[in-house]
Amino acid sequence: MSVIDHENYFTSLPRDYYLDEGRFADELTRVWNTQWVYAGHVSQIPRRGDYFTFNIGSESILVVRDEDAIRGVHNVCRHRGLQLCDQPTGKLPRRIVCPYHSWSYGLDGKLLKATRQADGEFFDYRDFGLFTVHVDVWHGFIFVSLADEAPAPVASMIDEKATADMALLDPTRLKIAHEITYYADANWKLLLENGVECYHCPSVHPEFCVSLDAQEMSDYYEDDYVGDLVQGLVIPVKRELESLSMTGNYVSKKLLGEFGRGAAVPDDFGAGFMTQPGYAWGGFHPDYGMVASTLPISPTRSKMICWWFVHEDAEEGIDYDVDELVKLWDITNIQDLHIQERQQRGLSSQRYLPGPNSPSQEPGIRAALRKYLEMMGEAN
Ligand code: FES
Ligand SMILES: [Fe+2]
Repeated sequence: MSVIDHENYFTSLPRDYYLDEGRFADELTRVWNTQWVYAGHVSQIPRRGDYFTFNIGSESILVVRDEDAIRGVHNVCRHRGLQLCDQPTGKLPRRIVCPYHSWSYGLDGKLLKATRQADGEFFDYRDFGLFTVHVDVWHGFIFVSLADEAPAPVASMIDEKATADMALLDPTRLKIAHEITYYADANWKLLLENGVECYHCPSVHPEFCVSLDAQEMSDYYEDDYVGDLVQGLVIPVKRELESLSMTGNYVSKKLLGEFGRGAAVPDDFGAGFMTQPGYAWGGFHPDYGMVASTLPISPTRSKMICWWFVHEDAEEGIDYDVDELVKLWDITNIQDLHIQERQQRGLSSQRYLPGPNSPSQEPGIRAALRKYLEMMGEAN
């Protein structure tokens, strides 16, 4: 039996799992550097040479648009290790040139020139290209994996309905209307566990529950949640309402994809995705979507980057107001992160012992933690 399995119930993890430095280092290797991690969207790098950097633990990754593909490389010069790009976003000329001794690399990471050291003179250029990372683009959403061998393709893990519903939105024709990075003094797994149950929704999120169908959300985790690295996700809005917002009304007038062309919204519409154990989720509605990527900083600190998406032609001030667009998720995110900080403080006590989780309300926690324990080699 694993640490979460007890005779008649299951629990979350023992105290040390949320505090220990050694375990945290192992998690970076076995979980975060292995699975698919949500990194960004194609609209962030529309032209050749456009790039953004993305940190996973101590690793900085450069995600760049090349001629025919989006590529990911470690942001580390192969000469003496300089960080190649130190800005969050930018545009590269045809090459990546290290500012220290001007070694230059192609956008695919190949070493093109080591200053005053000809190819083959002392070493073979082919042996000193930038280390590449796996990149998978699903419907315009960019996932990276630092594993030696790539996990199964993202598309193969997302169910047909979530894929079909996402396709209705023309998800490559979105733009980011707003981005917020939150920080929390809490272990990253608390963000995961909180995100895969809605047991807490009625008590923690009164605003969210105005438009969220909390019962259907809980049913989703009970019936449809699978413990895969990536899966489809539905964040259900109450049937009589339009969108997940403070009032339940649309917050962007320029509807996405087919809905902008007049198609009726199906009752059971739900476009979204989730990664786990390293947790990211995206929830899309006919007018907008939000993607959140949670990332580890230390055993007791995490960050969460959130991006709000609207139609690429939507105009701020005319079609949407940023405050209205972000308000509900912003309130909800802050509520969650406060709870996780309190939970981190509580479970740091010697008197914390994991208590029974509800099989009907918190089954997502069992599935997510089983995957985590399996990746850590502790599943039994
Ligand atoms: S460290 Fe990059 S060229 Fe020397
Ligand atoms: Fe929550």
